Amino acid sequence: MEKESKRFHIITYGCQMNQYDTGIISEILKNEGYIPVNNERDADIVILNTCAVREHAEKRVMGRIHSLGRLKKRKNIKIGVVGCMAKRLPELLEIPEVDFVAGPDAYRNLPVIIGREGVFEEGNPFEDYNEIWPLNEGISAYVSISRGCDNFCSYCIVPYVRGPLRSRPVDTILEEVEYLVAQGVKEIILLGQNVNEYNYKGVGFASLLGMVADIKGVEMLNFLTSHPKDIDYNMFMVMAEKKNMVRYLHLPVQAGNNRILKLMNRHYTVEEYRDTVRRLRSILPDVTLTTDLLVGFPGETEKEFMDTLALVEDIRFDHAFMFRFSPRPGTLAALMEDKLTDEEKIKRLRKLIDVQNRIIRERNKEMLGKSFRCIVMKPAKKGGYLCKTWTGKYIAVSENVNIGDVISVKVTHLRGNTPVGITQKDKEE
Ligand code: SAM
Ligand code: SF4
Ligand code: F3S
Repeated sequence: MEKESKRFHIITYGCQMNQYDTGIISEILKNEGYIPVNNERDADIVILNTCAVREHAEKRVMGRIHSLGRLKKRKNIKIGVVGCMAKRLPELLEIPEVDFVAGPDAYRNLPVIIGREGVFEEGNPFEDYNEIWPLNEGISAYVSISRGCDNFCSYCIVPYVRGPLRSRPVDTILEEVEYLVAQGVKEIILLGQNVNEYNYKGVGFASLLGMVADIKGVEMLNFLTSHPKDIDYNMFMVMAEKKNMVRYLHLPVQAGNNRILKLMNRHYTVEEYRDTVRRLRSILPDVTLTTDLLVGFPGETEKEFMDTLALVEDIRFDHAFMFRFSPRPGTLAALMEDKLTDEEKIKRLRKLIDVQNRIIRERNKEMLGKSFRCIVMKPAKKGGYLCKTWTGKYIAVSENVNIGDVISVKVTHLRGNTPVGITQKDKEE
């Protein structure tokens, strides 16, 4: 392939794992002489790294394929679809605009796949891209410590498209973190679909967390996403003991009713979840706790939905990602009788969002007048900068500060729901 036809651009959908994978794809292609460009108009190869978690995510990708089709008519580009939707729907290859399709475990073969017309590549289910260490712009970096998921929550497509759980070897995870820190990264975010199920030859998640926290230069350490069924209190102890650990836990509860949780195949009860939160908050009183909530699961009654609302009122999450159930072909929940209308699901979701938004505002108001030590992370969309605290909150500042600096900020007011502050020299909370 000529140099002129080797410019690539990747458009990423979906979760942090997909963002990390976009970095992996870039590294693989760059090593073969391909050149990354910042937009599709300058590219010879446009790759869509896709998500399949809800129908809406897939519809967005289909829309983008068709709009890229117009570019393809004017200019001879190749269009590839990779990632979770590609794995779920190999027939995407039949769309005239699409030149190649590859699942999340097939990226090592991309340089070859791109050169061949009309290829679907499923990939190696044991792939862990162990020695490929993507470095993105900025001072924050993801490190995937495992791939795949074996949990088969009844609504979820991820185990089907991402394959079985694979924990990466401890030593290369530590080497990757050391490498990133040496490149100027200050914040490390460990990733796994079920990050706290990590286990490599007997080394569990809490031990790994402690080892990463001890690496010199790791100023902030976070992880995503924890599963309530695999909570081990040792990880809370590590979060309390290590000064660079962010006191932040994303712990998806999904629903506040035991019958629904059982149907979802989540392996915990509402009472067990509450107990975990109680112990978390007793060990880390200022922890930021966020969650995922799924409403309108097949057969969810009004009363069962009210149980979710009651749990949300009670726990007072700092933030929540809220979704209405979207049936995913091939999953168990897609086969369950679903009598709820879309209108009813939307109504429940709106109600939940209203309640949670009020709680977010109340939680953020608790920050008013207090000072926090934080790292200046990135420019804010509305001007100024966003700083991240060691309690996992973002505060906007409008002063002239430098990305990467550790500063103390006093929260003065809220803009929408975002805390806004001024830098100061007082002692932080
Ligand atoms: N591994 C994480 C966990 O166990 O909670 C979640 C990963 S999933 C990619 C992110 C969120 O998407 C889930 O927590 C769930 O709330 C939501 N989700 C998954 N499948 C869904 C579906 N079929 N319809 C609507 N939301 C869904
Ligand atoms: Fe999906 Fe459940 Fe695995 Fe999370 S733990 S990725 S929700 S199957
Ligand atoms: Fe992530 Fe979507 Fe795949 S949420 S794992 S990109 S299905």
